[in-house]
Amino acid sequence: MIQVEIDGQTVEMPAGTTILAAARSLGIEIPTLCHHDALEPFGACRLCLVELNDGGRKSIVAACNYPLEQSELVVETGTASVWEARKMSLKLLLARCPGVAVLQELARQWSVDTQELLLIGDGEEECILCGCCVRVCREVIGKNVISFVYRGVERRVSTPFDRESELCLGCTACAYVCPTGAIKVDQENGRLLIAPWHSDLEQIFCGECGEALAPARLYAHLRAAEGEEGGAAAEEPLCSRCRRLKITAAAAALPETKYIL
Ligand code: SF4
Ligand code: SF4
Ligand code: FES
Repeated sequence: MIQVEIDGQTVEMPAGTTILAAARSLGIEIPTLCHHDALEPFGACRLCLVELNDGGRKSIVAACNYPLEQSELVVETGTASVWEARKMSLKLLLARCPGVAVLQELARQWSVDTQELLLIGDGEEECILCGCCVRVCREVIGKNVISFVYRGVERRVSTPFDRESELCLGCTACAYVCPTGAIKVDQENGRLLIAPWHSDLEQIFCGECGEALAPARLYAHLRAAEGEEGGAAAEEPLCSRCRRLKITAAAAALPETKYIL
């Protein structure tokens, strides 16, 4: 176990625990945007910066991807230099994405002046390059449909050759974890559209009420994962409401159970 002091409180955690996890175990809040508990740390947004004191050597590190490997470390999460560094990170994010609501809200809470920002690009960008979408697609869905492309101010997330990928299941996990709402998902003429990835997917519909259920590719993927013979996904496609109604109707049609005492 590793012992660490955070904001004057001492805690013991298994070696390799991140500063963020250790701080949260003490109820200490550290702001994050690119962190998600289900994903590998990435350290992109730099909002989780904290001050680390290692035997008198002080440094500013990202709490989300700094593993605690030795005892005697002292962490401060709210010093003036920590806040100065976090505000600088926020300004850099705002310079790229000035219209993103979550950034504007942080600027308001942290009293960051957004009037003097030097904008990068046209001010319409909504992607802060946090990499959550890339990681969830690769690490959780196992598909690797999207990745970072280009460098510097041109850097962004895209599909190979910026074309629709046959690998995209339309699961929308990428949109779910996106902290800025940059990944737009729509339904049009019975198809599921994921704008930034050019995904345009046929959907399947509930066999009873006709409600859109899932992209056909995702449905086939689930069928394959569960085995063609069994599993909920191998049955007639029904929405949860119609499935419940069908089960209730089937139960009502059963002959009354007689108990012999
Ligand atoms: S919708 Fe496509 S790109 Fe997004 S996580 Fe699912 S498979 Fe990956
Ligand atoms: S699209 Fe969203 S999740 Fe993906 S890198 Fe950009 S901000 Fe992050
Ligand atoms: S949450 Fe740590 S760098 Fe983004």
